Amino acid sequence: MTQELYQKAMKFAGEKHSNQKVPGTNANYLLHISNVVMEVLMAHHAEQNFNLDFAVQLAILHDTIEDTSASFDEIKNEFGEEVAKGVQALTKNDEITTKKERMEDSLNRINELSKEVGLVKLADRITNLQAPPPHWSQEKVIKYHQEAQFISEQLKGKNPYLNRRLEQKIKDYPINLKADL
Ligand code: NI
Repeated sequence: MTQELYQKAMKFAGEKHSNQKVPGTNANYLLHISNVVMEVLMAHHAEQNFNLDFAVQLAILHDTIEDTSASFDEIKNEFGEEVAKGVQALTKNDEITTKKERMEDSLNRINELSKEVGLVKLADRITNLQAPPPHWSQEKVIKYHQEAQFISEQLKGKNPYLNRRLEQKIKDYPINLKADL
């Protein structure tokens, strides 16, 4: 049942992310997680052509390997190999030096797996395309915008609803924030 899987995954993520805040805020990291899950639920409400249980678990766990002590094997034991593989693909490889290559590598691995994994990446970036934090430089804002465009291109066709939503978020992203001051 989706509800039980949700609760189990949220307990795991809640414990793992317990000391992590959403960058630039005082909010616990579960704020980010709940927003990503919400996007997945809305996408499924729009069109039921993907595995909701799988996508919800991925959404909840997507940052656990990258940001916490959680390991591939731990997730595999708790949630199964498919979920662990998905979370691993959504995790950037620290051994790759440039940010751009790290993203390319992750997207390539995401594209080798089923569409739910790519759909969660779309939901993650949609969530992160809120107004940029005031301390970000113009250069960082532009780079983030470009990276979002790259993600959007690489994940075309994963989910029409989320693809459209990301395109709209990219269009609305205030890259000229500083020019207006
Ligand atoms: Ni995330």
